[in-house]
Amino acid sequence: MELMREVAALTSQRHPVPLYYQLKTLLCQMIDNDELKSGDCIPSERELSEKYEISRMTVRQAITEMVQEGLLIRKQGKGTFVAEPKIEQGLISLSSFTEDMLQRGLHPSTRLLGTRVEQASRRVAKILSLGVDARVMVVERLRLADGLPMALEFSHLPYSRCGDLKPEDLGGSSLYRLLEERLGIQLGKARQTLEPVLADTHEAELLEVEKGSPLLLLERTTLDTLGVPVEFVRSFYRGDRYKFYVELIRQQKGAG
Ligand code: GLP
Repeated sequence: MELMREVAALTSQRHPVPLYYQLKTLLCQMIDNDELKSGDCIPSERELSEKYEISRMTVRQAITEMVQEGLLIRKQGKGTFVAEPKIEQGLISLSSFTEDMLQRGLHPSTRLLGTRVEQASRRVAKILSLGVDARVMVVERLRLADGLPMALEFSHLPYSRCGDLKPEDLGGSSLYRLLEERLGIQLGKARQTLEPVLADTHEAELLEVEKGSPLLLLERTTLDTLGVPVEFVRSFYRGDRYKFYVELIRQQKGAG
């Protein structure tokens, strides 16, 4: 079979690679080799199934996985296209969503989904070094780049320090700019964790992905230059639009 021959190098006799996976490998190679470029329409399910003599269900499985992984995009009534490369985000500098998008030539915007003031949970109080009865302002925002949803963010800010921020400010401006310019808080550093999660119904709807799609959960605690925590944020980034990178430096033997 033609498909088998084309990915023969990857096929082991003892552990045959499933057909859908062979097709996926072939399409990925075509993208890596620029035979298929961002924005190109890939052949239809029918064409692929006829060309490689495999069922349409097998073709659909390969394409669905590539859509979920952000390599392909389905456009209703138009076909399936090769996606733009993912946004590569460094993990070293403390930057804001607004700065990150502008740096990439994308237009950032925000949909404010809600703000509320509540008593901090034990976990949040501990992270923000607040007392047991302290209140926090919770800001829920959808972050977009060129009009496309990228991340859903839940920021927790100590009410005693940030209570003056108004919902109308938060919808239209960078939170970091407000903290720095409006409240005079100098941001110093942040601690951040990153873990994979699957989109629940609410997250999927807002981020315009299917329920169960992979997301990256970033939890960031930002401290001012005196080391006092000023925000704790849970950000859900679309796994099909983002990848994070970090440079690793090998410790030289015998050093230090
Ligand atoms: C990123 C971080 C958040 C931070 C936000 C501030 O998205 N993951 O922790 O709150 O930037 O962005 P902005 O200043 O654009 O509101």
